[in-house]
Amino acid sequence: MSRVCLIDHPLVQHKLTYIRDKNTNSKEFRELVDEVALLMAYEVTRNLRLEDTMVETPIGPCPTRIISGQDVGVIAILRAGLGMIGGILKLIPNAKVGHIGLYRDPETLQPVEYYCKLPADIAQRELIVVDPMLATGGSAAAGIQAIKDRGGRRIRLMCLIAAPEGIQTVQERHPDVDIYVAAIDECLNSQGYIVPGLGDAGDRLFGTK
Ligand code: PRP
Ligand code: URA
Repeated sequence: MSRVCLIDHPLVQHKLTYIRDKNTNSKEFRELVDEVALLMAYEVTRNLRLEDTMVETPIGPCPTRIISGQDVGVIAILRAGLGMIGGILKLIPNAKVGHIGLYRDPETLQPVEYYCKLPADIAQRELIVVDPMLATGGSAAAGIQAIKDRGGRRIRLMCLIAAPEGIQTVQERHPDVDIYVAAIDECLNSQGYIVPGLGDAGDRLFGTK
């Protein structure tokens, strides 16, 4: 069974409060999601392997360490996952970025894939899948499956807010994928929104409602 890591760092929790607030406008919402993604990436990358190397300081040779050859790929589930890419790239500027377009059918709540463009060498990369909301878990599970179908193997999932139902779905369908979240909320409402959540992440990021 995969691990669920709740990132309860005070900075993350503080910023999440303003992300949830319905009075936060799109500009502030985007900035806050970007900042929280950066802070969460610090934790998500905690166990990347390091390899030994040497550098010359102005004083002399220094044995030190760098992140080993296993490069990182960040994959956004569209649309809302786009809001988390910039923050991660500030920490890992050489990461390759993939996009999977999925929307939830409003009637069935089932994910519908409309786009997929991934780095060619995903099989060699440590992959971080990002989407702010893990509600039923259908979108994340389908996105992860699309990555596995194209050769991706070492995958972790990073979301801002999860419902227990979404965590259970991903754990059942992808027991090899660890899940990193800033909050686990109570439940889903009849429209499949996380309660209390933050509303529609895509609409709040891009001002479409
Ligand atoms: C939202 C969100 C997730 C999905 C979560 O996307 O960004 O991708 O819903 O719901 P689930 O866990 O029940 O699948 P949405 O379908 O609203 O598309 P959008 O990002 O394009 O607005
Ligand atoms: N998608 C969202 O944007 N918010 C939710 O609460 C659930 C799915």
